Amino acid sequence: MGKDVIIACDFASAEETLAFLEQFGERRPFVKIGMELFYAAGPDIVRALKARGHRVFLDLKLHDIPNTVKKAMRVLTNLETDMVNVHAAGTRAMMEAALEGLTRPDGTRPLLIAVTQLTSTGKAQLRDELLIAQSMEDTVTAYAQNARRAGLDGVVCSPLEAGSIHAACGRGFLTVTPGVRFADAEKDDQTRITTPAGARALGSDYIVVGRPITQADDPVAAYERCVAEFVDKAANEAADKAGDKAPDQAAGRPTNPTEEEA
Ligand code: C5P
Repeated sequence: MGKDVIIACDFASAEETLAFLEQFGERRPFVKIGMELFYAAGPDIVRALKARGHRVFLDLKLHDIPNTVKKAMRVLTNLETDMVNVHAAGTRAMMEAALEGLTRPDGTRPLLIAVTQLTSTGKAQLRDELLIAQSMEDTVTAYAQNARRAGLDGVVCSPLEAGSIHAACGRGFLTVTPGVRFADAEKDDQTRITTPAGARALGSDYIVVGRPITQADDPVAAYERCVAEFVDKAANEAADKAGDKAPDQAAGRPTNPTEEEA
């Protein structure tokens, strides 16, 4: 896997999701399934999408005691998802347990990424409700470093945080970034946004794009525009910089960093 555009399929039913994806014909975009669709349609929607050839990011943001998360992850492994996530706030012990539960007997597993602080959490809430005195940036970086030390593959973050997270955790640590809008479009309820090209310039590894594609008059054209801005230009740049990258990163394979923190 390398840089890619992940479509957030924020639909309420399997029927709606499959009808939406029908428009893409033979193309099989990487898709994200969140809590709404998973709770409505169950594991069968993951099986259906995998059977059609989609890669699936199951965005369930697990957060519980380590043993419970480990066992839940073991179940999710059977669904053959490509990416799943947990809350970094669950602690390093929980993230390590998640990784253990996710790893199949043959050593393979989906990518595991962590949510640091939700982008809906503001500075005042961090201080007054979560009682975290550090700045948002320091908190996000520290949570990302915890995730990396636990052996996770990356984090969900704002594209604007991708650079500082790569600086703290290494370039091979994946940044999966929502909050993407076209330059000429509505922001909806997203605040800290960038364009697909902006996310590329900031070093995002995957962009998660929902409404700009799902609500577009021509969703396939909107998806292709994202790919052209984010992936194709990235491919050209990667070719230019091929000599600067480690082989695993150049091939787009997930890395399990074991080297010291950058
Ligand atoms: O429609 P839109 O492009 O805003 O969708 C973004 C997707 O990414 C949604 O599924 C949303 O829940 C998710 N997300 C986000 N911000 C985060 C984490 C996830 O927007 N911090």
